[in-house]
Parts: sequence; C-alpha cells; structure tokens
Amino acid sequence: MTFSHHCAALLLAATVLPVHAQEVPPLAERLQVCAACHNADGNSTIAENPRLAGLDAGYLARQLADFKSGSRQSPIMAGIVAGLHEQEFKPLAAHFSKQKPAPGAGAADAKLALLGKEIFDEGIVGNAVPACSGCHNEDGSGTDKYPRITGQHTAYVVQQLTNFKNGLRANDGKAVMQAVAKRMNEREIHAVAEYVATLKESEE
Ligand code: HEC
Ligand code: HEC
Repeated sequence: MTFSHHCAALLLAATVLPVHAQEVPPLAERLQVCAACHNADGNSTIAENPRLAGLDAGYLARQLADFKSGSRQSPIMAGIVAGLHEQEFKPLAAHFSKQKPAPGAGAADAKLALLGKEIFDEGIVGNAVPACSGCHNEDGSGTDKYPRITGQHTAYVVQQLTNFKNGLRANDGKAVMQAVAKRMNEREIHAVAEYVATLKESEE
C-alpha cells in the first residue's frame, strides 16, 4: 500500500466513527459548560438553575440519566445531556456532590414563608399532604433516598413542584412527589418554596 492510500483509509475510518466512540473530553473541560449555569462550585446564583453543591452523587447522576430518557423533561438539560457520554454522568455528579453548599438566598416574602414552614413541618392536614420534613428532614438535608433541598432557590423549587404536579417530571420512585404536588395549589407551592430557600443546615 502506498503512503497516500494508507492516508485515505485513515481519513475514511475517522469520518465513519459513530458519535459514542468519540473521545471523552477531560472532566475540567466539561465542567466549564456546567459552570455557565450552575457555577463552578455548584452554588448557582440564578434562581431558575438549581444549586447542585452537596447533593447526593447517586441522585445527581440519576437525574442526568432521567433527562436523557425523558422521564424528567427539561428542554435545557435535554440539550446538555445529548452532548455528554453516559460514562461522564458519575464523575460530573461526584464533582458537584463534593462541593460545599453556600447559604440559601432566603425568603423574598417572609409572611408567605411562615405558611411554608407550617406546610414543611406539618403538611396540609385537610388535604392529606404529608410533612416535607418526614422525607427531606427538618433542615431539608435529605438522605440517600430523598434529595437535599436545604437553601434551594425558590423559583427552581416552584418549577419542580409544578412539574411533578403536571407530570413533566415523573422520575420519582412510586410517584411520591407527584402525589404530594398534585394536592397542593399554587399559593401553597409558592409558600413552601419560599421557606425552602431559608433553610440552613442544622448543627450536628
Ligand atoms: C444553560 C444552562 C445550563 C447548563 C449549561 C447546565 N445546566 Fe444543569 N440545569 C439547568 C436547569 C435550568 C436545570 C433545571 C431543569 C428542570 O427544570 O428540571 C438544571 C438541572 C440540572 C440537574 C438536576 C439537579 C437537581 O437538583 O435535580 C443536574 C444534575 C444538572 N443540571 C447537571 C448539569 C451538568 C453536570 C451540567 C454540565 C455538563 C449542566 N447541568 C449544565 C441549566 C443548565
Ligand atoms: C414520601 C416522601 C416525600 C415527601 C413527604 C416529600 N418528598 Fe419531595 N421528594 C421525594 C423524592 C423521593 C424525591 C426525588 C425524586 C427523584 O428521585 O428524582 C423528591 C424530590 C423533591 C424535590 C426536587 C429536588 C431537586 O433537587 O430537584 C423537591 C423540590 C421536593 N421534593 C420538595 C418537597 C416538598 C416541598 C415537600 C412537602 C410539600 C416534599 N418534597 C415532600 C420524596 C418526598
């Protein structure tokens, strides 16, 4: 085989490589993409973009898989995960899980947050809404089964509860969050989301 033949064969091989066989870029390079919206340390300052710092790594990795499968719908994150290799989900999740969560932004409406605290700690008795604290803990710090929501942005929490309510987010095991959100009205959703933004880690 002459040199030019050899070269042509290599070029051909390169152009027919499928997308999933393309090289996985270094983690640091990928993290720059995420940082544009979630901040490098995972403490997003934009209320529509969730704070990822300190959340359980298994939870975060599963969300990426769920954006990919469509069981959790988000046009923005669907576009992001379409450009990722599945083997990147775990390292990306591990990075954000290890970051230290910054204090939440607090409530914009302190009066509404008071109603939110009542819902968070006691549920809505007349409407069979269970206390959020029963699963997410009193301080919202969560467990390996229930995500951490301490200090999460109000706008993001409103969006998620609304998405659970209307089924755009259906990735909760046994549909527990969908059952909770379906029994809440807009005011109650907003109130509890105001309170979540005020939550602080309790001292161990
Ligand atoms: C253009 C902005 C943008 C970029 C870039 C972006 N995200 Fe997101 N991310 C969002 C938004 C908005 C949501 C909320 C989606 C929803 O409404 O469910 C989100 C949600 C998430 C969630 C779910 C968090 C939770 O608490 O359930 C994870 C995990 C996540 N992003 C990881 C990443 C990673 C990793 C990258 C980089 C590879 C990235 N994101 C890049 C905007 C972005
Ligand atoms: C029976 C247990 C249970 C109760 C009670 C409960 N949750 Fe959840 N919640 C879950 C589970 C499980 C998920 C995670 C779904 C998943 O894995 O994607 C979740 C997810 C969430 C999320 C999304 C977190 C994120 O980062 O995207 C928010 C916000 C939330 N819950 C708020 C609440 C609020 C507010 C209440 C009270 C009104 C509440 N939850 C009551 C089990 C519960």
